[in-house]
Amino acid sequence: MEHNRGNWGSNIGFLLTTIGSAVGLGNIWGFPFKMGKHGGFTFLIIYLVLSLLVGFVIMTSELALGRITGKNVVSTYYQVSKKFKWIGWLAILAPFLIMSFYSVLGGYCIEYMTLNFANLAFGRESSAGGELFGAMCSEQFGAAIATILFIIVCLLIVKGGIKDGIEKFNKVGMPALFFMLVIIIIRSLTLPGAVEGLKFMFVPDYAVTAGFVEEAPSFLSSLAAAGGQMFFSLSLAMGIIVTYGSYLSKKENIVRNSLVIVIADTIVALMAGLAVIPAAVALHGTDAALSGPSLLFVTLQDVFAEMGSIGSLFGVIFYLFVLIAAVTSAISLIEVIATYFMDRSMEKHKKPGNRTKISAWICAAIAVEAVLVAVDGLGSNGLWVPFQSFGIYSFNDCWLDFMDCISEGFFMPIGALLMSIMIGWELKPKTVLDEIKIGSSLRMDKYYTFCIRYVVPLAMLLILAGQISQFFNLNWF
Ligand code: PHE
Repeated sequence: MEHNRGNWGSNIGFLLTTIGSAVGLGNIWGFPFKMGKHGGFTFLIIYLVLSLLVGFVIMTSELALGRITGKNVVSTYYQVSKKFKWIGWLAILAPFLIMSFYSVLGGYCIEYMTLNFANLAFGRESSAGGELFGAMCSEQFGAAIATILFIIVCLLIVKGGIKDGIEKFNKVGMPALFFMLVIIIIRSLTLPGAVEGLKFMFVPDYAVTAGFVEEAPSFLSSLAAAGGQMFFSLSLAMGIIVTYGSYLSKKENIVRNSLVIVIADTIVALMAGLAVIPAAVALHGTDAALSGPSLLFVTLQDVFAEMGSIGSLFGVIFYLFVLIAAVTSAISLIEVIATYFMDRSMEKHKKPGNRTKISAWICAAIAVEAVLVAVDGLGSNGLWVPFQSFGIYSFNDCWLDFMDCISEGFFMPIGALLMSIMIGWELKPKTVLDEIKIGSSLRMDKYYTFCIRYVVPLAMLLILAGQISQFFNLNWF
């Protein structure tokens, strides 16, 4: 089976691709502002501890599960478990739903990049963020086209296959992304007043002592926020890591690779913070850093507009950077579904499926739901949204929040909770551990068994409660 499905071209290709999936909008927008809001340095420590106790353990488990079966995520769970065989379906539905809004955000990046480029090329003055974003949300046709364009870009990569499409793109895209990130950090840190932004990010509870956040966050709320962020950021419980693991050869070291992925993702999240927060705070004050979803598309565009003509150049670089980060994550989401259908075709017809055709159908289905989210324009166009009269949405009554709530809020934590129970209590940790340890000299049996049986399920319960509380504005913690 493995031979027919193909494998990664190289270990570094696999690493860059998995890091590419992990590094996405979550790192650039979510991490920096959550870190500032939930306690600065304290949040960072909690995040690092959770990454090692929970993130790393799930990462190794998912890679091992994929490699044990050499199959897509649905078949993987069917093969290894009797009681939990259906959780693979959660892990295939969630990426499909996430793509509905990820594509729209990717589409906005294309629009911002093009606009900044046009400003640069024609020597026009930079556009102000607020007006631009308002116009983009209500300009339904433009948003739909940009969204479809984003999906087409992803399709062109996924149809090339694991090695010649996805891995190839990441091998060029990820170093380019890193390079652009460094340029933006240098610009951001050299703005007068940038220090204030650094304080917001790193000084423990600065947001509270400086009066930007009313109340100090409780330990539990910081824990839930850090856990939810870590989890989304590492692309866990989405079938992605299981799928990528199914293409991993037996000679690669799962323990070392997982450590590298977790560390790299955290470093990029911190670097993204250095790129985004000091610039936003220097030019717009600390409130700007807390402005939620508009930080990326309103505040930062304003920052570029205020830099004068060179601002457009930084605008092009920045939005291209975000775009690449979004593409490398989106293709991993599509690949989960593509691998499933490729394997199915193999089982049914005894020959590999037509990847181009399969990817095109998946992308067409994604385009339908994504256009709905695009046309909704974050709720600015008065579309009907499920449960809207219940007042359950934290940011806005909109389709984006609805899709996010189901996928990130429920499917992801429930999937990971059940997976840890499955490995810890049904399969017995040793089965998975034996696969994880191949080629590794690290003695981690006790650590792994303890974490997968007790720490991970407890953390996942807490994260699930945190997500429910956040999405439904319940203020549980
Ligand atoms: N890890 C990505 C990010 O940080 C998002 C993502 C989540 C991508 C789940 C794929 C699956 O933005």
